Amino acid sequence: MLFLQLLRYQVVLCSGVSVSLCLGFERLEHATTSHGLKLGFISLDCGGKHASIDRNGLQWIPDDSFISGGFVASISVTGETRKHYQTVRYFPADERKYCYTLHVKERTRYLVRATFLYGNFDKSSTYPTFDISLGATYWSTVAISDIDIPKIKELILLAQSSSISVCLSNASTGTPFISTLELRQFNGSMYYTDFETQFFLHVSARINFGASNNDSIRYPDDPYDRIWESDADKRANFLVDVASGTTKIQTNRSIDTARDEYPPEKVMQTAVVGERGLLSYRTDLDGFPGYGWAFSYFAEIEDLGPREARKFKLNLPNVPDYNNLTINVQENAQGSYKLYEPGYANVSLPFVVSFAFVKKRDSSRGPILNALEVNKYVTINFGTQDAAALSSLIALYPSADWALEGGDPCLPVPWTWVRCSSDGQPRVTAILLSGKNLSGQIPLEILNLTALTDLLLDHNSLNGPIPDFSALIKLQRLHLEDNQLKGSLPVSLADLPDLKELYVQNNSLSGSVSHQILDKSLILNYSGNANLIIKGSGRNHVAIIASTIGAFSLLSAVAITVFYVCFWRHSTKEATEKSDTMEIQTATSHISVSEESEDVLKDITIEMTHCFTLAELEVATEGFKKKIGSGGFGPVYYGTTKDGKEVAVKVLSSDSQQGKREFLNEVALMSRIHHRNLVALLGYCQDQGKNILVYEYMHNGTLREHLHGSVSREHPLDWISRLELAEDAAKGIEYLHTGCNPSIIHRDLKSSNILLDNEMRAKVSDFGLSRLAANGTSHISSIVRGTVGYLDPEYYVSQQLTEKSDVYSFGVVLLEMLSGQEAISNESFGVEFRNIVQWARFHIDKGDIQRLIDPALGTNFNIQSVWKIAEKAMLCVQPYGKLRPTMSDVVKEIQEAINIEKEPESSDEEHFDMMSRHSRHSSLISNTLDSIVSDPSLSLDDSIILPSAR
Ligand SMILES: *[C@@H]1O[C@H](CO)[C@@H](O)[C@H](O)[C@H]1NC(C)=O
Ligand SMILES: *[C@@H]1O[C@H](CO)[C@@H](O)[C@H](O)[C@H]1NC(C)=O
Repeated sequence: MLFLQLLRYQVVLCSGVSVSLCLGFERLEHATTSHGLKLGFISLDCGGKHASIDRNGLQWIPDDSFISGGFVASISVTGETRKHYQTVRYFPADERKYCYTLHVKERTRYLVRATFLYGNFDKSSTYPTFDISLGATYWSTVAISDIDIPKIKELILLAQSSSISVCLSNASTGTPFISTLELRQFNGSMYYTDFETQFFLHVSARINFGASNNDSIRYPDDPYDRIWESDADKRANFLVDVASGTTKIQTNRSIDTARDEYPPEKVMQTAVVGERGLLSYRTDLDGFPGYGWAFSYFAEIEDLGPREARKFKLNLPNVPDYNNLTINVQENAQGSYKLYEPGYANVSLPFVVSFAFVKKRDSSRGPILNALEVNKYVTINFGTQDAAALSSLIALYPSADWALEGGDPCLPVPWTWVRCSSDGQPRVTAILLSGKNLSGQIPLEILNLTALTDLLLDHNSLNGPIPDFSALIKLQRLHLEDNQLKGSLPVSLADLPDLKELYVQNNSLSGSVSHQILDKSLILNYSGNANLIIKGSGRNHVAIIASTIGAFSLLSAVAITVFYVCFWRHSTKEATEKSDTMEIQTATSHISVSEESEDVLKDITIEMTHCFTLAELEVATEGFKKKIGSGGFGPVYYGTTKDGKEVAVKVLSSDSQQGKREFLNEVALMSRIHHRNLVALLGYCQDQGKNILVYEYMHNGTLREHLHGSVSREHPLDWISRLELAEDAAKGIEYLHTGCNPSIIHRDLKSSNILLDNEMRAKVSDFGLSRLAANGTSHISSIVRGTVGYLDPEYYVSQQLTEKSDVYSFGVVLLEMLSGQEAISNESFGVEFRNIVQWARFHIDKGDIQRLIDPALGTNFNIQSVWKIAEKAMLCVQPYGKLRPTMSDVVKEIQEAINIEKEPESSDEEHFDMMSRHSRHSSLISNTLDSIVSDPSLSLDDSIILPSAR
C-alpha cells in the first residue's frame, strides 16, 4: 500500500500539479521511504533539471512546474557539492514580481525556507539585494553579503488556504535569484500562537548551544528539518560578549524529545554552563526590533549530587517581569535528561539583544542553556480586496502567461496588467488587457471589480454583447475597440458618472447610439461599426466627440482657470499676449482647445487661492520690515492682513526666468493641497515682476531651531515631543506622496522646512517650490535641487526624482531628532564621516545606539522606541531608493514608537506573557494536528499556565 501511494505521489509531481493531493495520508506523515521521499516536505531545487536525493536522504525536485518565468544558471562554489546548490533560477531586475505557488493543506502549520547561494551566477560580482514576500505580506529583504555562503530565510505559518506563494521583487542591486525553496510540514503545536491567523513567525534565531563543531543540525536529526545553528559559528554580531567561565558540556544519554516539535535529541544533548555563575550573550536578531516569540530549552545533562541544585534567573534588560522567575531545570522538567521549555509567547525585543542567565545564591551549579529559538511576529497582509474576483478571472485563461504571475494581484507590486490603489488593503483600479489574444465573451467576473477606473480590453478577439457595466461606478476609461463585439451600445454607459473615454470602434455593434451617451461629456469613438447609427440621422456617423471641458483633468482645468480669471483682473495686457493653443494629451486621442474655448473656461468656477496686490502686501508687512527667515527661494517677511490674520510672506528670488503661466500653474497646484500637516498657502501675488507667496504664519519657528539652535539649549524637546513632531511631518509628506494626484515630491525636505505652530504641531513648508526655484542659488546645484546633507545620493547620480528622495531626506531629519546633531558637521562627525548618515550608520552597525542619542534627552525615553526610529531612519537613508520604506511605512513606525513611549511601564501582562509549554501540553491528549486546531481545550484554564509572569 505504501508503494502505491508513493507511486501516486510521483505521478502527481511529474505532471506538474501540486503535491497537496498526496498530503492526506496523515498516518504516514513522518515516514521516510527508501526513495528519500518524505511526506509533508517539498524541496525545490531551483533551476535544477533532474530530481536528486541528498546525503541527508531528502529528495529534491526541479522547480519549473511551480513558477512561470525566470532563467536558469549554473554555479560552482568551491567546497559546495550539494546538487541543489549547483544551479539557481534568476529573474529580470524589473518592476515585476516572480512567484512560486506551492499547494498546502489548509489549517496546517509549515516551515517555509528559501535559500540563496549567489556564486556569482551572473558573472557580474554584484551582490543582489531584493525583497521576498509571502503572498501579499512582506517577508524579508534578501541582501547577499557572501559569494559562497547561502543566505537562509525562514517563516513559520499556518496555512489559511490551499496554496501559498513566495514572490521575489523590488531588486535594488543585482539580479534577483533563488537557490532552493523548501516546505516542511509540522504536526505538533509548538508553534501554535494565539493570533496565528494574523501573524507569521519570521525565524530570527534557532541556536544549538554547546555544539561540538560549526555544523548546524537538521534533517534527519530534526524530523522537521529545522536548521539549528551552532553556537560556535563566528559570524559578526552573533553570540558575542560571552561571559568567562562558559563551558561546553555534552552527553550520550538519551533525552526524550519525541513530543511536539521539541528540539531534536542531538541539540539537547549539548549545552553550555556558566561555571562562574553567569551565562551571557549579545546577538543581532534578524528582523527586530519588534514583537516576537522567544523560547529557551533546558535539559539537565550533568549528573548532580543528591544535595546539589542548579537554579538560575534570566536577566533580560527591559523585560523585568521575567527576572523573578527561578529556573530549576531538574525540578521543572521533573528529572534529569528531560526537557523544560519556558518562554515568552509575545515579547518586545530590540535588534541587538543582550541576555544573561545568573546563578541563584542557593544553587550549587551555574546556569545551563541547551537551545534557544526567537521568531519575530510579522503581521499578515491580506492583500487586495479584489483577490477573489481576479482569481476567478484568471481561472478562465489557465494557459495565458499573464494569468500565471502568481501571488497577490496588487502586493508587493501589482501584476503587470493590473493597477491598484495604494491603500493598506488595495483595490484593483485598472485592468490592462489590450492585445492579449482574449476570445469569447467579455468575462463577467470583471463586473465585480467595483473600484475600476480603467478597463482596457481593446485589440482582442472578444465577441458577444457589451455587458451592463453599471456596477463599475468609478469607471473613467473603457476601451473595447478592435474586437468582434456584437449587439447594442448599452445606454446604461451614460449613467457612469465619471466616464471620460468610451472607445468601441471597429467592432460589429448594431442599433443606435443613444442620445444620453451622445450628450454626455466624454471622448467617444464608435466608428467602424457598420450597423451602428445615430438615432434620427439615419447615417453612419463617425466621430471623436469632445463634448465639453468636462473631459479634461481637474488639474488642467484649475491651471487654465487660474490663468484666465486671476489674470484678467490684474493684468489684462499680459493675458492677451497669450495666444498659443493649449494641448491636452489623452491616452489615445489628441484634442486641441483653441481660443474659442475661453468662454467655456471663464465660466468654470473653481475654488482657488486669493490673489493679493503688491500694495496690499506692502501694507500687511509694513513695507517688508520684519524678516523672519530666508529660505533657498528668497526672504520671508512677517505680516498681518486687513482681517487681522498673521501671515508669512515669501518673496521668491526675482531672477527666475520662468513664465507667469508656470508660476500660476504651481500656485494652482499648491493651493489645492490642504492638510493639517502642511503649511497652508493663503494666496499669492504677481505684480511688478515679483512672485510672492503668502502662507499662514507659524508661531514656533522651525524644527531646526528646536533641535540645534538657542531655543534647543533653553528648552530642549523631549523624546515624545520629537516623535509627535516627526509623526506630523511624516503625515504631511505622506499626503504629498499619496493624497495628491499627481503626487508631489517635496525635493527639499529638511528640519528648517518643518515649522511649528503655536500648539507645537509640525507642518511641512515649501513643498512644490523646487519647481519654481531660480537657478544658481548658492546651495542648490543647477540641475539637482536639494540641500547638501539631505540630498538623496541616488537622485544626485541618476537625476531621477522619486518619492523615495523625500524619504531619504526625512531619514536625515529623523537622525537629527534622535541625535540633536546637524546633518553636516565637521566638528561633530570629524573628517571620518562628515555627515550624519555615515556617522549614524557606523555606530548603529556596531549596535552602539547610545552614541547617537542626544544627551539633552536625559534618560527620559524607552530604548525600544529609540531603536525603532533609528532602524527606520537607517532604512530611509539606504543608498537605493527601492530599499527605502514608503512614507506610509515611516508614519506607521513612528506611531508604534509613540505607543511604546506611552505604554504604562510593566503593567502590560499580555506582552510579557511567559508560559511553559511543557505544562500546557500536558493537557493535550492527542498529537494529531486536526484535533489540536479544533480542540476547545486550547483556551486553557489559567491555572495550568505556569510559571506565571505575574
Ligand atoms: C490565441 O488564442 C487561440 C485560442 O483562443 C490560440 O489557439 C492561439 O495560439 C493564440 N495565439 C497566440 C499568439 O497566443
Ligand atoms: C504582542 O503584544 C503587543 C502589545 O501588547 C500587541 O500589540 C501585539 O498585537 C501582540 N502580538 C501578538 C502576535 O500577539
